[in-house]
Amino acid sequence: MNKKRFFLSAPHMSGKEAKYFNEVLKSNYIAPVGEYLDKFENSIKNYTGTKHALGVINGTSAIHLALLVLGIKRDDDVLASTFTFIGSINAVIYQGANPVFIDSDKESWNLSPILLEEYLKSCKKKPKALIVTHLFGMSADIVKIAKICKNYKIYLIEDAAESLGATFNDKHTGTFGDFGIYSFNGNKILTTGGGGMLVSSDEKWIQKAKFYSTQSKEDHLHYEHHEIGYNYRLSNPIASIGVAQMEVIKQRVDKKREIFKWYKEFLDEIEEIRFMPELNNSRGNRWLTTLVFDKTDFKKIIKVLNNANVESRPLWKPMHMQPVFKDTLRLVDGTSEELFNKGLCLASSTIMTKDNIKMICDVIKTNL
Ligand SMILES: Cc1ncc(COP(=O)(O)O)c(C=O)c1O
Repeated sequence: MNKKRFFLSAPHMSGKEAKYFNEVLKSNYIAPVGEYLDKFENSIKNYTGTKHALGVINGTSAIHLALLVLGIKRDDDVLASTFTFIGSINAVIYQGANPVFIDSDKESWNLSPILLEEYLKSCKKKPKALIVTHLFGMSADIVKIAKICKNYKIYLIEDAAESLGATFNDKHTGTFGDFGIYSFNGNKILTTGGGGMLVSSDEKWIQKAKFYSTQSKEDHLHYEHHEIGYNYRLSNPIASIGVAQMEVIKQRVDKKREIFKWYKEFLDEIEEIRFMPELNNSRGNRWLTTLVFDKTDFKKIIKVLNNANVESRPLWKPMHMQPVFKDTLRLVDGTSEELFNKGLCLASSTIMTKDNIKMICDVIKTNL
């Protein structure tokens, strides 16, 4: 049996991290801000085409800052993808606002523009914003979704925590909405151990987010505060890791897509398997290769893969199925629930080889 364990998405260093980190140590610039934080923000701007970027301690805080700047407050309604990780939603609760969960469609597995519009047409209380997630690195139907938000005059926040590098019509996910966020958590396509980025084309909004992220300190010599703030700013040493990681983002996206291609090649003949689709005109980063089994119990596959030292996990459990949100408003049609009941994330670390993927597929095939 293979002794090495294959993880879902292990960190993958570019080789420059130690050099840049050491430069920060040598400069003694361990302060929150510094040259590498600017460089990291600039690299995100250059790569995604966003106009403004703010480095923060994680993706969750980036969403929180977006809500704060947009004035989302107690009792406001905020629409959100139900098929997501709870990090998309927690900040809505921090603000005392009410999430309203919208289901996915079969074409993208991401938020359904049809259900979104259905909700907006019929709701009695107008929501203030939508948080749409590009799940598992695959773009939602974002052009349609952005148009609906514009028509109904609601703010759009893109949770692109998992989808750095994914595009729709050659435009990066995270850059369609009023705000976008990326995560550099340990399992993401790039990682700084923990970190996040808030992006927007509106300079004033990013300036305001920066203000909130640094304890809402007014521009005075002394410490003067007129509003409550947060300690959310990313630090210069952590940003230096991000700069090194951004140098290999193109290779990482290509490799994730190649891993998906290998899985598809080895499992294509199996009728009961459906992979997460990629919408026309979009290019996902395939952060995790995900699939559903129409006949076999996926829990059995998790078990046999685990015995072969391979990590796999169920798909995210939809938010409307979470006990903590049992009383939360929702418009759902069973799509994400079915995906959750049948689906799996496969090991998709960028250090993996075609032989590793073949071994995993052989284990799956012999257990169907
Ligand atoms: C879809 C999604 N949203 C939000 C987050 C929160 O990001 P972070 O862990 O950096 O706070 C994550 C990842 O962890 C995520 O996968």
